[in-house]
Amino acid sequence: AEGSGRDHDLAGLRIMVTAGGTREPIDPVRYLGNRSSGRQGVAIAAAAADRGAKVVLFAANVDAAVLAEVQDRAAVRVVPVSTTAELERASRAAAAGAEVVIMAAAVADYRVAEVAERKIRKEDGAGRAPVLELVENPDILAGLVEERRPGQVIVGFAAETVENEAELRERGLRKLARKGADLLAVNAVSWSEGFESGENTLHVLARDGRPETVATGTKRAVADALLDAIRDTLDS
Ligand code: CTP
Ligand code: CA
Repeated sequence: AEGSGRDHDLAGLRIMVTAGGTREPIDPVRYLGNRSSGRQGVAIAAAAADRGAKVVLFAANVDAAVLAEVQDRAAVRVVPVSTTAELERASRAAAAGAEVVIMAAAVADYRVAEVAERKIRKEDGAGRAPVLELVENPDILAGLVEERRPGQVIVGFAAETVENEAELRERGLRKLARKGADLLAVNAVSWSEGFESGENTLHVLARDGRPETVATGTKRAVADALLDAIRDTLDS
């Protein structure tokens, strides 16, 4: 926050952030999940608190080591969640009292139709591999857009596997329009990039036609750049 005109520029704002990745149980010992560490969302929560906001952070399966970054900040309330249903319930309640909603969590698109009450055992399968039937999860972000408070700024995230920046931008703009969010932060991912690293490149796309901003650097630097774009959207 030093020397960038950001000192307490978010004072008085209530910001809801989701981070990490939801998990969907298969049986009592197994789940479907994704590779999101939660680092970017946690960095956003920390940066927002340092700039004066009151933050609620819904942490979906985020490691304690990652959460350590916000542990000593009184302005951040950390609420652990695991499944998409838990995240949805928590998000809807909190969004009703927030000026800014940042959906950085990777939400599982599908859950297992029937969760097994007991561990699935090879012995019970008679040599046949089980087939999991999946059902689609609700789109939490779309629900929040439907229930948007007047003036509320809603920010989505998208991690995309793309060939080049033009495709990233094109997919991002389409997703932004489809979702109805005010801003969409998109980054390129692959087997080897975009996860478990301290650095990130985010393209921030705006629905109001403002030019895209590109932020590269530590997850903290990228978080501050995203918060700048949010502040500008709130001010407009
Ligand atoms: N999201 C959500 N609920 C879902 C799926 C996604 O709230 N069931 C949110 C994510 O938190 C993110 C944004 O929507 O902020 C975009 O997520 P993404 O997975 O990129 O969008 P999808 O519509 O699921 O598209 P895709 O088929 O590319 O996964
Ligand atoms: Ca998805």
